[in-house]
Amino acid sequence: MCSAAGPSPAVLRWPHTGCVSRPPRPEGVITRGTTAPNRLRRADRWIVSVHGPLLRRAERPLVVDLGFGASPVTTAELFGRLRVVHPRVEVVGIEIDPARVATAKPREREGLSFRLGGFELPVDRPPTLVRAFNVLRQYGEGEAWAAWERLCAGLAPDGVLVEGTCAETGRRASWVTLGARGADGTPTAGAGRSTGGGKGAGALRDTGRVQGADAVRGAGAVRGRRDPRPGGAEPRTVTLAAHLPTLSRPSDLAERLPKTLIHRNVPGERVHELLAAFDRAWAAAAPQSVFGPRQRWVTAVQLLARDHPVLTAPPYGGRARWRLGEVTLPWSAVAPDQISLIPSLRE
Ligand SMILES: C[S@@+](CC[C@H](N)C(=O)[O-])C[C@H]1O[C@@H](n2cnc3c(N)ncnc32)[C@H](O)[C@@H]1O
Repeated sequence: MCSAAGPSPAVLRWPHTGCVSRPPRPEGVITRGTTAPNRLRRADRWIVSVHGPLLRRAERPLVVDLGFGASPVTTAELFGRLRVVHPRVEVVGIEIDPARVATAKPREREGLSFRLGGFELPVDRPPTLVRAFNVLRQYGEGEAWAAWERLCAGLAPDGVLVEGTCAETGRRASWVTLGARGADGTPTAGAGRSTGGGKGAGALRDTGRVQGADAVRGAGAVRGRRDPRPGGAEPRTVTLAAHLPTLSRPSDLAERLPKTLIHRNVPGERVHELLAAFDRAWAAAAPQSVFGPRQRWVTAVQLLARDHPVLTAPPYGGRARWRLGEVTLPWSAVAPDQISLIPSLRE
């Protein structure tokens, strides 16, 4: 049935019927549009290495960059980086502020486009990968958990959400990779393995080595229990990344934790315990500074891995990744025991 609404910029005329209707309102709220060239380079490098195989498996993978901000520069950079991985990848930048979409439109080209939207992800097929950086910072913690659920529900069956936060310059960053849980509420694949066995290793605790991307699936089955909510978000890994020459200690990264963790950096929470242990390992690794901050970081990560479930084998871990100033752990290493999931997002 046709709506009687007259045309306006917010009104759509559907070509197949001639009907006029208002498009659904994007889910979420407009927030500050701060961005800068190259600030997401650490996350993009990680996406290329860790999720490159996932993208290569698809015929024409769709990648969404949610909340690209005042300028589409980081979306264009992501597109350039992913075209090297897959020459037919399509990247869609989605932004909830119509003025920012209009600013981005002239940057469109084959394979790269921009459109108005929100957490509902208005794209024509489920994306293989969604990158959402510095988008949830200005939402409440409960809203951030709800956004995870909403975004993961829109993914392709094997798709991933990479949601994170970084400093203005990108020198401090952290992100979480999530997938969708299986329809029966169980994780989509078996538990993975990591070196180390600290508190919170849960289903990942093992003395083996991570063998591949599938190995971390199931990490979000908090404490190994079944989650009763089907089809929602399954957080799998958490990554900390820093420009090492300017890092005074690993806990400097606390202010760049994703929204679901940043308020949990208090005694009694796993993420607080992890950062404190990492600081102790960093202090113990001080003698390695004579060989440079990379060597100190690598040694600190190795010390941390003695009692925390650091992922130690490619693609998530190992010397080559640690030398970049990264460390990745299963989500269970930081998962809060109690989460405040609100039923719906702010209108
Ligand atoms: C701080 S900017 C981040 C820009 C870029 N991603 C970066 O990291 O440099 C956050 C942007 O997310 C947008 N945003 C917030 N909520 C959104 C939503 N639900 N859907 C789409 N965009 C959203 C805001 O309007 C803002 O432009």
